[in-house]
Amino acid sequence: MPYTAADCLRSRRDFPALNRTADGQRITYLDGPGGTQVPRAVIEAIHSVYTDCNVNTHGNFPPSREVDRRMQAARSVVATFLGAADEHCISFGQNMTTLNFALATAIGRTLVPGDEVVITQLDHEANRGPWLGLRERGVVVQEVRLLESGVLDSDDLAAKIGPRTRLLALGASSNALGTVNDIALARRLTRAVGALLVIDAVHYAPHFPVDVAALGVDFLLCSAYKFYGPHVGILYSAPGALAHLPTDRLGTQDASAPFRIETGTLNHAAIAGVHAAVEYLASWGAGASLRARVVDAMASISAYEHSLGRFFYERVRELPGIRIWGCDFSTRARAPTVSISFDALTPAEVAAALGAQGICVWDGNFYAARAVEVLGLAARGGLLRTGISMYSMQDELAQLLDALAAM
Ligand SMILES: Cc1ncc(COP(=O)(O)O)c(C=O)c1O
Repeated sequence: MPYTAADCLRSRRDFPALNRTADGQRITYLDGPGGTQVPRAVIEAIHSVYTDCNVNTHGNFPPSREVDRRMQAARSVVATFLGAADEHCISFGQNMTTLNFALATAIGRTLVPGDEVVITQLDHEANRGPWLGLRERGVVVQEVRLLESGVLDSDDLAAKIGPRTRLLALGASSNALGTVNDIALARRLTRAVGALLVIDAVHYAPHFPVDVAALGVDFLLCSAYKFYGPHVGILYSAPGALAHLPTDRLGTQDASAPFRIETGTLNHAAIAGVHAAVEYLASWGAGASLRARVVDAMASISAYEHSLGRFFYERVRELPGIRIWGCDFSTRARAPTVSISFDALTPAEVAAALGAQGICVWDGNFYAARAVEVLGLAARGGLLRTGISMYSMQDELAQLLDALAAM
């Protein structure tokens, strides 16, 4: 079932933040890669935990049983969202970065000096820093080259994965350039040498259906606040992948998956909000099962966002004094995130001028600091990034284009 401009207009009614003005001015949110707005259903799910069952888990009294039920339901729905076997594959945490540090620490304990981990120049620091830290243990960290075109050098990727490689940490999609990486190739290469594959899907999950089983990944991380939910990190572990990892955990803690990597009390209300965000997305799809509706909705929203991305990309490239970074929109393997730089202005100057007009776009390196450095943009303040979400409208992009043209 296609997701149309009329659907987008309907969806906007569900997001209270989109219907507010600031100082009498309409706010145009084109900052989705930094975090999306939330629909009312998410706010209500969070509210409902505080009113109905704001107690800790595993108690022998009714509100505690209820919060247990909601946590289990949330895990199960997120498993469906990602195409995972069941809720035992889904761990929650404060955010993706925290979970990835926990994962890297645990995996690091299984490595010996001289073992190799491969990261990329394109990835967000959250999928680099935790692995770079393993150098303290004598692990050798290899870095796959980013080409000026905004794609990873696949020959370099193949060359860097060798007999000593124990793990490849790769982003599914770049939050800076919108590049979509070849996970199937990464899986073939890592499988050939028996290495683990850890995928950062933070920027991918809001824009494409995810199918962890089809991808065959060992671990995949994402973050609900990028797909219309609250600030909660999500770790998918393939069945059995987490079970024996030497994670940091208390002796009193449940040592089985998915709890093995979770520490302390989780944010139950926010996790109920994650559940609601997935159900909300699924409500835009058709199908007999929740999984079918999720996949249908994500595929339709993806096509809508891609067409807006293409519109913006084609128009912005015509403006003088602007350079676009990243691939064009000739294939579907492209997230709707478009970054540009300016001959005469810094991205921060442009972002501030746009912000004064109520247009929210990010400038800088978006924590993809290595990519921005490799592209030679660090000294010039990085990039100006326009992010398209399910609630973005073509007239908002036209407003941005007019504002850019006027500068
Ligand atoms: C691609 C990517 N990976 C990882 C992260 C880190 O996510 P979190 O804020 O949940 O730690 C981000 C956040 O912007 C991101 O865009």
